[in-house]
Amino acid sequence: MYEDLKIVLWPDPRLKKVSKPIESFDLDLKALAGRMFELMREAKGVGLAAPQVGKNVRLFVMNPTGEPDDDRVYANPVLTDGEGEEESEEGCLSLPEIHVNVVRFKQMKMTAQDLDGQPVEEAASGFVARVWQHELDHLNGTMLTDRMGPVARMAARRTLKDLEERYREENPKSETRKTKQAQSSRSK
Ligand code: NI
Repeated sequence: MYEDLKIVLWPDPRLKKVSKPIESFDLDLKALAGRMFELMREAKGVGLAAPQVGKNVRLFVMNPTGEPDDDRVYANPVLTDGEGEEESEEGCLSLPEIHVNVVRFKQMKMTAQDLDGQPVEEAASGFVARVWQHELDHLNGTMLTDRMGPVARMAARRTLKDLEERYREENPKSETRKTKQAQSSRSK
């Protein structure tokens, strides 16, 4: 039922929404997560959040090592106890060709639910904690573009412009003015 889903690219407005909590832990949710894993693998990514396939629900999938048994999925994730800071480069499947240095917490704790609605509690540091923070950003409508400093924004200017043009071509009825307003009213 989710075969038609694909990864949506910035500046699709669905990427800028705050996603809603998941309430039904049903077969539908499992199918969505399964399709997200598929799309993530096809794109050779390490993580993918539901808004990136156009679904504004609080769910993300990840696989930090690429090993088949290292698939992880989190519903309604909450991050706490951030400690330390680390700057590292990040990319995003919804922002092809863009790489941004982002400062993140080095360690974090997460409480979430699995696909059956059972509570999950984990702690992580380094790369895994970074992926958590990146994917949680997606669930709150925050993209790497919101984490860019002026220099990074300047460097990415051409690529962002191309993505905007591509979006307009593929969505001729979209109101770019609205998109711009939404962007400028963002708090980050
Ligand atoms: Ni991303």
